Amino acid sequence: MSRSAPEGIDPTTPTSARIYDFLLGGKDNFRADREAAMQLLEIAPDTRTLAWFSRQFLTGAAELAAHAGVRQFLDIGVGIPTSPSVYDTVSAVAPDVRVASVDFDPVVHRHTDAFAASLPAVTAMLGDFRHPDDLIERLRTEAGIDFGQPIGLLLVGVLHFVMDDERPAEVIARFREVMAPGSYLVFTHACTDTREEFVDRTAYATDGTTAQCAYRSRSDVEQLVNGFEVLDPGVVPIQEWIGHNLPPTTLVMLGGVCRVSPQ
Ligand SMILES: C[S@@+](CC[C@H](N)C(=O)[O-])C[C@H]1O[C@@H](n2cnc3c(N)ncnc32)[C@H](O)[C@@H]1O
Repeated sequence: MSRSAPEGIDPTTPTSARIYDFLLGGKDNFRADREAAMQLLEIAPDTRTLAWFSRQFLTGAAELAAHAGVRQFLDIGVGIPTSPSVYDTVSAVAPDVRVASVDFDPVVHRHTDAFAASLPAVTAMLGDFRHPDDLIERLRTEAGIDFGQPIGLLLVGVLHFVMDDERPAEVIARFREVMAPGSYLVFTHACTDTREEFVDRTAYATDGTTAQCAYRSRSDVEQLVNGFEVLDPGVVPIQEWIGHNLPPTTLVMLGGVCRVSPQ
């Protein structure tokens, strides 16, 4: 049974979107979010740096997909707007892109809706990744996504918030079934190689909230994207994917870029 999505604005319960906003230096967070983030930063001050690495991975991989001809992007678990946005990045490659910015948190939706107001190519949607059939239908009808053409499915910073009993592999497979050849999947996932103290502390700080995180091993994460062609260098810590000899971080965040090959 799925945990409920965040409802309205509850400043007393931390959310992943607002914790992440705080880590990135944003202002759209409350004391409870900052306290949860500070607990992480106490053990691992490099978590802020990792948040920026993750943004770099997201925009770099989206750019790669745009260069490969993808013109429609589904940014699921989009988070509170941060610069540069996915739209800024991919529209610099191809001005005719379309972006659907989806999140299940009404606070995030309010922000993305304001961001999208002046950008006809961007549609903000309140939607839950864990309900793929409903989401795919709404992406068609509300965001004008044509699943007959390649899409870029961006699942960055979101898969580890889907618990095992919420069946992440089945949800991803449902998307894969409707993704045309030439489509891309870009994802990150928190890994069990992370220091134990950090894992325990995050479990304590976020227990029972939607910010609760399921750490998975590299082979479990590879299983989640079964059926996709995983591009080099594979499912690796995002620093390896970005290159430039970036330092390792306490929280080990795996990332990968996959393609739907022609049948
Ligand atoms: C850590 S933030 C990542 C934001 C952005 N993708 C990035 O990488 O900068 C995670 C986001 O995923 C959203 N989220 C978590 N579970 C979700 C779900 N089942 N459906 C839609 N959004 C979800 C949260 O509300 C939050 O905004």
